[in-house]
Parts: sequence; structure tokens; C-alpha cells
Amino acid sequence: MTESQTTTTTTPSAPVRLEFVVTLYPHPVLRKRAQDVPVNDQTRATVQAMFECMIRSDGCGLAAPQVGLEQRILVLNATGEPQDNLALINPTILKRYGGDTLMEEGCLSFPRMYAEVKRPDSVTIEYTDLEGVRHTKEYSGFIARIIQHEYDHLEGVLLVDRMTPADKARNRSGLEALIERWKRAQ
Ligand code: CO
Repeated sequence: MTESQTTTTTTPSAPVRLEFVVTLYPHPVLRKRAQDVPVNDQTRATVQAMFECMIRSDGCGLAAPQVGLEQRILVLNATGEPQDNLALINPTILKRYGGDTLMEEGCLSFPRMYAEVKRPDSVTIEYTDLEGVRHTKEYSGFIARIIQHEYDHLEGVLLVDRMTPADKARNRSGLEALIERWKRAQ
């Protein structure tokens, strides 16, 4: 499958370089519950390659299952500014609060599909950074929205599960095309 293909190129003196391609619905890896990872050079290389994949794909967030890995790693950027890159290793949502808001969401695993999703405005999360330090932080608004969408991926929950019947109907041909594409590739 081209969607889940991972290419690794290495030269004798250079570290391993990863290049990811986004895994599309309905690839089964997207339904797996992702597992905790250690913070080491391999994980840091994965994070780097995930940021590159996210930026190349014009996304504002990406979860490791979307590059074929059953690992609890999220990368996101709510502004598009490089200094706002945020990598969350082994994140947990401790609390969701602040009232529900409705926002249109897309997902790199569902190209050109959108759904109005209701989620709480704010979250308190715990995560490990790239140096292995554990943090507890609160986020509100768009960044909290991205975190909740990406966190769903770690639990095997997808945009299609969050669609209202109306959104599902509107995206029906797109969803069917993805399923057909998957079947043909088997
Ligand atoms: Co997504």
C-alpha cells in the first residue's frame, strides 16, 4: 500500500532518515489503540518525520497511526509558525471542560472531507516532551480542538465516527471512493 509505505534510507555515516506518507481510511492501523513509547532517538526521528509529513500535507496535526505506527505520538501546529510546533509523547487528556463548541474538522486520512464536530472548548493534558520531561498543561480554542481530534486517533476513533448523519450523507461518495480504493489495493 502506498498510503502506509515507510521508506528508510541510510548511509554509513548519517543517522536513519524517515519519510512518511499519510495512511488513508479505511486502513486497519487507524482502528488500533496506540501504545506508549519510550523517548529516545528513534522516537525523536519519528517526531521529526511526522512534522515534515504534516507540513508537506498542509495539515495542522498528525497522529502516529496516520503514518502506520501504533504509537502514542502526536504532532501539531495551530498557527503555521515553526516555533509553535508541539510534539506530545504519550499524552493523556485529564479533563475536558469549558462548554461544547461546534467546528468544522478535516483529517489527512479523509482527503477533502469535512464534518461539523462538537467538542469541549478546553482540555487539561499530560504529556512527555522530546527530552523525556512530563508536563501538565491547559489549552483552549483551536489548539484544544486539534489535540482532541488527534487524541481520538490514538484511541482508534476517526472523523467518520464523529460525523452527524447529515455529514455522513454529504461525504458518502468520498467515503465510498476511499473504501473502493482500499479494496482494489488488497
Ligand atoms: Co485526523
